[in-house]
Amino acid sequence: MKKLLVTGISSFLGNELAMYPQQHWKISGLFHKKEVHFSKVDCHRCDITNEVELNQIFNQTQPDAVIHLAALTNPNYCELHPEESFRVNVEATIHLAQLCEKAQIPVVFTSTDLVFDGDNAPYDEKDEPMPIMVYGRHKAKAEQQILALYDKAIIARIPLIFGNGGFMKNWVETLKNGGTLTAFTDEFRTMISATKAIEGLLLLLEKKLKGIWHLGGKESISRYDFAVKMAVAFNLPKDQIFPSIREKVEMPAARPADVSLDSWKAYEVGFDPMRISDSLKKLNQEI
Ligand SMILES: NC(=O)c1ccc[n+]([C@@H]2O[C@H](COP(=O)([O-])OP(=O)(O)OC[C@H]3O[C@@H](n4cnc5c(N)ncnc54)[C@H](OP(=O)(O)O)[C@@H]3O)[C@@H](O)[C@H]2O)c1
Repeated sequence: MKKLLVTGISSFLGNELAMYPQQHWKISGLFHKKEVHFSKVDCHRCDITNEVELNQIFNQTQPDAVIHLAALTNPNYCELHPEESFRVNVEATIHLAQLCEKAQIPVVFTSTDLVFDGDNAPYDEKDEPMPIMVYGRHKAKAEQQILALYDKAIIARIPLIFGNGGFMKNWVETLKNGGTLTAFTDEFRTMISATKAIEGLLLLLEKKLKGIWHLGGKESISRYDFAVKMAVAFNLPKDQIFPSIREKVEMPAARPADVSLDSWKAYEVGFDPMRISDSLKKLNQEI
C-alpha cells in the first residue's frame, strides 16, 4: 500500500478519513492539541506551524501523497486572531506544499466555499474568489500561493459538511436533550456529508487530478431547511427548530448569503455527492 500523510487527523474530517475503509493507502496522521488514536492509522503529534517539526515528520514518514486538513476553521475565531490564522492557514500550508513539490508527490489542500462573497452563486472553478472574512481570505491566499509554486497541487473547495461531528453532532444532541435550535433561513450552501467529502478527496488524489475542484452537493439548502430535514431523518421534533436571519445575530466574521458551488466538473470524473435526505437516512442507521 502507498503511504498517505494526513494533517489534522484529529479534525471532524480527519476522523472520518481515519475510519474510512482503505484499499490503497496506509495512513500516517498528524494531530496537534487533541491526541487521537485509530487502529489503522499511525498518529503523531505535530504543530504544523513549526517548520522543524513538520520537516522531521515529513522525512520520517516519507509519504507518497498528502491530504492537508489541518486548519483554524472557525471564521469568528480567525476574524479575532488574524495573525494566528495566517500562520496556520497560509504559512504552514505553503511550507507543506513546498515539501510536496520538492518530493514531487501529490498534495490535496482542503479549501472552502467561503472564498466566495455569496452574491453570485452558484460558483464554478473559473469564478474569482472574493472572500469577505479573514478565514476565506487566508484560504484563498493559500490556494493562490500553492498553485503558483506547484502545478501538480490539488485544491478541493468543500462546502459545509454534515455528519457525526461538527455542527450537526451538537444539533442532534440539543434536540435529543429537549433543547431548541435557531438556524438561518438566509444562508445557503451545497452541503455534503463527511463521508462524501472524504470520497471526493480520495477520488481527486487517486485520479491524479490537479488544479481547483469543487466538491459541492446538487442541492442548495439553507441551514434552517437542513435542520428540518435532519430532524425528520433522525425522528427528532421539528417544532423545536426556529428560523432566524443573519442580521439578527452579531458575529465577528461576515457571513456570505449564498456560496453554493457548481461542482459539475467533479461529477464528470465520478464524484457522487448523494442527496442530502439519503445521506441523513444513512447516517441515522450508522450512528
Ligand atoms: N467542516 C466543514 O464544514 C468544512 C467546510 C469547508 C472546508 N473545510 C476544511 O476542511 C478541513 C477540515 O475541517 P474540519 O472542520 O474537519 O476541521 P476541525 O474539526 O476544525 O479541526 C481542525 C484540525 O486542524 C488541526 N490544527 C489546527 N492548528 C494546528 C496546528 N498548528 N498544527 C497542527 N494541526 C493543527 C487540529 O488539530 P488538534 O485538534 O489536534 O489541535 C484539527 O485536527 C479544514 O482545512 C477546513 O478548512 C471544512
